[in-house]
Amino acid sequence: MARTMKTYNIAVIPGDGIGQEIVPAGLKVLHAVASHHAFELATEVFAWGAGHYKEHGMFMPSDGLNILKPFDAIYFGAVGLPDVDDTLPAKCYTFAIRKGFEQYVNYRPARLFAGIEGPLRNKTPDDINLVIIRENTEGEFVQAGSFVRPESPDGMAIDMSVFTRKGVERIAHYAFRLARQRQKKLTNVTKSNTLIHSLAYWDQVIEEVGQSYSDVAYEKMYVDNASASLVLRPERFDVVLTSNFIGDILSDLAGAIMGSLGLGASGNINPEKRYPSMFEPIHGSAPDIAGQGIANPIGAIWSGAIMLEHLGEMRAAQQILDSIELTIQEKVLPKDLGGSASTMDVAEAIMDNLGKSE
Ligand SMILES: NC(=O)c1ccc[n+]([C@@H]2O[C@H](COP(=O)([O-])OP(=O)(O)OC[C@H]3O[C@@H](n4cnc5c(N)ncnc54)[C@H](O)[C@@H]3O)[C@@H](O)[C@H]2O)c1
Repeated sequence: MARTMKTYNIAVIPGDGIGQEIVPAGLKVLHAVASHHAFELATEVFAWGAGHYKEHGMFMPSDGLNILKPFDAIYFGAVGLPDVDDTLPAKCYTFAIRKGFEQYVNYRPARLFAGIEGPLRNKTPDDINLVIIRENTEGEFVQAGSFVRPESPDGMAIDMSVFTRKGVERIAHYAFRLARQRQKKLTNVTKSNTLIHSLAYWDQVIEEVGQSYSDVAYEKMYVDNASASLVLRPERFDVVLTSNFIGDILSDLAGAIMGSLGLGASGNINPEKRYPSMFEPIHGSAPDIAGQGIANPIGAIWSGAIMLEHLGEMRAAQQILDSIELTIQEKVLPKDLGGSASTMDVAEAIMDNLGKSE
């Protein structure tokens, strides 16, 4: 009897700007790797984002989450356009999905690929290889707040941070478990010396959870020191656990020490798999280079590999990573990394190199 091929249903949301370029590039590689490993990706594309907002007054349909819910995963580019109010993309799209689907883990690896001359002198691929685990559904980004008489001389704006025991415990367990699989080292990046309620509670709950992981070396570091240390001594870090706001900023810094923001990959993960998880490069829609075919697709392609890992296709995910490394070593590089390859040239080279380094 003929066996049916394993098929994953993927919702594809290219979004705006270079999202329209890097997502098709990523899909090329994903379909190619799937054929090497005898599975299929059944994709459905949704034209949501700031462009959709301009036409329809909303970033996605009001039942957008219900539409996405049956999918195995979401493969996403970026949202935001210069002529659309930039307070809306996160509120109306990104956070709505991250929160609605309890994607409480934001998984952001950063490593220096051999063959890339990173901005840090004398640092090797062994020195830069870490994962930032950013809490993704609460903290400083709950978007609860208000304006109080904003036009008056006493005008005020308030944003609240919310840290719940449940929210901190679950992200801490995830990060400690990940540390166990890596170098058994976890750094909690915090600012509890000044955010004396929210982040002091964050530290306290993490340290309570840490008692069940005595095999993992734990340290606490303030974000000011961590920012300097990421540049001066990145080798100190392996798993970095941090809050929503701090993680947002540190992961761009981590992207920069890799050599370009265009390399950074991420997963917004619901570890229990009750809802689909969403995979996207860390960068935005880059309107300054959109439409030129020069965007670096590696962050999007690597995000696709993280998606396959989440779906259980470990060998396919590793094959993409190996192929990215080989392509970089062959110097098929986009403009932001000093090369002249187009977005599609890079994707095609990665596709052609699949399986070559085995
Ligand atoms: N998750 C998301 O959808 C997300 C994340 C960040 C920013 N944004 C949105 O994106 C828009 C632009 O924001 P921004 O300019 O602050 O950040 P950005 O990440 O879009 O761009 C910052 C700089 O990095 C460069 N860059 C980014 N990605 C690149 C790539 N793949 N290849 C080569 N160069 C790349 C850009 O050209 C730009 O110079 C805004 O509307 C913002 O709200 C969206």
